Amino acid sequence: MVAGARTITPELKETGAAPVAVDLATPDGPGRLIEQAVAELGGLDVLVNNVGGGDSARGQVGGFLSLADQHWTELLELNFLAAVRASRAALPHLIERRGAIVTVSSNGARMPHSGPIAYTTAKAALTAFGKALAEEFGPQGVRVNTVSPGPVRTALWEGPDSYGAELASSMSLSQKDLLAGLPAGAGMLTGRLIEPGEVATLIAYLASPLAGSITGTDHLVDSGSVKTV
Ligand SMILES: NC(=O)c1ccc[n+]([C@@H]2O[C@H](COP(=O)([O-])OP(=O)(O)OC[C@H]3O[C@@H](n4cnc5c(N)ncnc54)[C@H](OP(=O)(O)O)[C@@H]3O)[C@@H](O)[C@H]2O)c1
Repeated sequence: MVAGARTITPELKETGAAPVAVDLATPDGPGRLIEQAVAELGGLDVLVNNVGGGDSARGQVGGFLSLADQHWTELLELNFLAAVRASRAALPHLIERRGAIVTVSSNGARMPHSGPIAYTTAKAALTAFGKALAEEFGPQGVRVNTVSPGPVRTALWEGPDSYGAELASSMSLSQKDLLAGLPAGAGMLTGRLIEPGEVATLIAYLASPLAGSITGTDHLVDSGSVKTV
């Protein structure tokens, strides 16, 4: 396994993945990561497009009129184009091994009103992109699915400089109070935030041969936040 992030943290090393320091928001970052993964592993069975949110998640609480082109561009580079670029570089290798792609979108792609406009728009594009890739590459043996979480207990919400911190401040709440009220506010039926491992388990299942007949689908892990069928 190979994993990319800008910082090689002890937590990343502990996963057992070979870590690669890479900025996935740059035009050549995703391609370099795939190149290094192929060199390390001798081929590819699975691509997980997980990067998103990141620095670009911040600066969005002011609403649509506060967002200039530069913000949209930065956000789309990380939340949409990183997956496009990684998939383009990985697909020839995935076809060789009849592999799978799992991309992490968001339940906000189905409820664009529920989050920052540039982020949910990018995620809606990501979900549509996964469906189109599944159609094109299914006949060559590659399955493509997306996973769409609701609020997950990660640094995106809990970090000191995170989107969660910014949203709390814009609502004149402490971050702790914001997070305590988030499950109810987001219509989550479990009364708690989602654990990262709960999303990872679904990703691992979709990437595995157990999900051999599942492709072109989007899977919610959102504790019932999306209220439509
Ligand atoms: N948390 C949620 O509530 C939630 C809900 C729905 C969907 N999602 C989606 O789930 C995925 C994971 O989110 P998360 O909550 O785990 O986010 P996170 O806590 O903000 O973690 C982001 C990870 O991505 C890396 N990263 C950020 N910018 C990068 C860049 N330019 N190049 C390479 N790596 C970069 C970060 O490491 P470095 O900073 O060291 O690069 C970090 O490891 C994202 O696609 C997000 O949109 C999250």
